[in-house]
Formats: sequence, C-alpha cells, structure tokens
Amino acid sequence: MGSMLVRALLGADRRLEEDVWASNRSPEKLEDLSIHYHQLRAGENLELARECLTLFLCVRPVDTAEALEEIRPALTAEHLLVLITNVVGLEQLAAAVPCRTAKVIPSFAQFVRRGVSLLIPGPRSTKDDIARLRDLLERVSRVYEISESQSRAATNVVSCGPGFLARFCAGWAESAYEMQPDIPKGDWEFLVWETVRAVAELPRAGIAGKEILEEVSTPGGMTYEGLQAMDEVLPAMWGEVMRRTAEREKVLREAIRL
Ligand SMILES: NC(=O)c1ccc[n+]([C@@H]2O[C@H](COP(=O)([O-])OP(=O)(O)OC[C@H]3O[C@@H](n4cnc5c(N)ncnc54)[C@H](OP(=O)(O)O)[C@@H]3O)[C@@H](O)[C@H]2O)c1
Repeated sequence: MGSMLVRALLGADRRLEEDVWASNRSPEKLEDLSIHYHQLRAGENLELARECLTLFLCVRPVDTAEALEEIRPALTAEHLLVLITNVVGLEQLAAAVPCRTAKVIPSFAQFVRRGVSLLIPGPRSTKDDIARLRDLLERVSRVYEISESQSRAATNVVSCGPGFLARFCAGWAESAYEMQPDIPKGDWEFLVWETVRAVAELPRAGIAGKEILEEVSTPGGMTYEGLQAMDEVLPAMWGEVMRRTAEREKVLREAIRL
C-alpha cells in the first residue's frame, strides 16, 4: 500500500509541491521504487520523521508498535501521523504519540488514480490537516470523509472492494467456462471484465443502479430468472462478508499494544 501510494502521488497529473520520502524495513523494495521515481527521497524511519511533517504509517498492524518506537524520538506536536488501517484505533494512537493523528483508508484502485480514499479525522487533527490530506488524496482518488465508527463497513466497500470484485468476477467467469468449455477461460475473463467496465460507465450516460435493472430485466425472462437466483444467495453472502470482516478486525484490534 505504501509503494502504491508513492507511485500514485508521484505520477499524479497535479504535481506535489513538497518532496516525497519513503522508508521500508527491507531496503531492496525501496531501491526498486527509487529506480522508477528519481524524485523519491529514501531514508530510515527516524530520518523521515525528522524531514517530513506529514507521515503515512503503512505497515501492517502487527508492526505498528515497532515502527512507532523508531520514529517516536523525532515526533513533535507539529507532525501529522496518518494511519491506513482500521485495526489500530485513533484514540489508541493519540495516547501513544505527541502529534496530531488521522486515518486514510486507501484502495488498490488508486494504482490507476481512481476509486475512493476514506478520510477520518483524528482526536487532535485540525481543519487544516484534513483540508491538506483531502488536497493530497484528491490527486489520486475521490475522497469521502467518515468517522472512525463508520470505517469497517466503508472499508469493506472501497478498500476491500477490488478484492471482492475480483473474486466475484473470477467465479462468474469460472461458471461460464464450466457451462461452455469450448470458449477459453481467458476469453471468459475478458468477457466478464469488459462487461464490468462498460456497466461502470453507464452512470455517465445517466443510467445507474435500479435503472440498469429495469432496462435489462424483463419479468419472466432469463436475466430476471438469474437475478432471482442471485437474490436467494447474495444478501446472506454479503451479510456474512460484513460480519466476518468485523469479527476479524475485533480479534486483531484486541492483540494490538502500542
Ligand atoms: N492491501 C490493501 O488493499 C489495503 C488497503 C487499505 C489498507 N491497508 C492497510 O495497509 C497496511 C499495509 O498493508 P500491505 O498490504 O501494504 O502490507 P505489506 O505488503 O506487508 O506492506 C507492509 C510494509 O511495511 C514494511 N514494514 C514493516 N515494518 C516496518 C518498519 N518498522 N519500518 C519500515 N517498514 C516496515 C514491510 O517491510 P518488509 O518489506 O520488510 O516486509 C512492508 O514493505 C495494513 O495496515 C493494511 O491493513 C491495506
């Protein structure tokens, strides 16, 4: 996620005025990034905290405490520390650092500078901090501001979304292949994704959501029948996805000590 954000920000049409610095535990990954982005400045965690007033902490939750230890000596009230995970709470983080805090939940869709970034103000963040983050993120995504208590459900859509959609489409292509194996699997994947891409563009023509259903589903027809089959399983499936992700987040949260 960290390297994805670096790539998205450094490749954005609207250039950043400030330097972008990055640090990583395994330096070889950083070297790879530096080869492609000459303007990227690389350093150790502590050096970054000394050079940059806005810091994105893009480690896994389990590595958060260690990364914080490394930057803590340089953190001041002037810093804005941004988490990108739901597993560490903003209150928990604010109690462990002297700086202002916020959350941004990115999405892999930002790799192509699309999709939505969730923006969550922290206990000490200021209006200027949030405006600054919004300005930064709008270069690579649409920005949607929420509170931390809304974050699990919203993350399940915008951030887990690329994974959920990829799995949904893979299953769809797979069952079409099973029904008609004389069309190659790769072609089925092309047909599915090209359809998804086209449908995603329909709102631009003023046709969205329910209107799409009205246009394509004739009562008694085959799309109608397929939708009936989906209605029998999808609500339970999405309910289970929401329930299980929330449960998993709770388990991971309880294990975090900063
Ligand atoms: N994946 C997603 O779609 C997504 C979406 C939104 C939010 N997130 C959140 O983003 C965070 C990172 O996820 P990810 O998928 O990007 O994980 P990842 O691929 O494992 O990347 C984490 C990176 O952090 C580095 N790291 C660990 N400890 C460090 C330290 N002390 N100092 C410097 N670098 C350190 C790791 O270095 P090494 O190279 O040595 O392992 C690794 O490159 C998670 O909290 C996740 O919840 C992920």
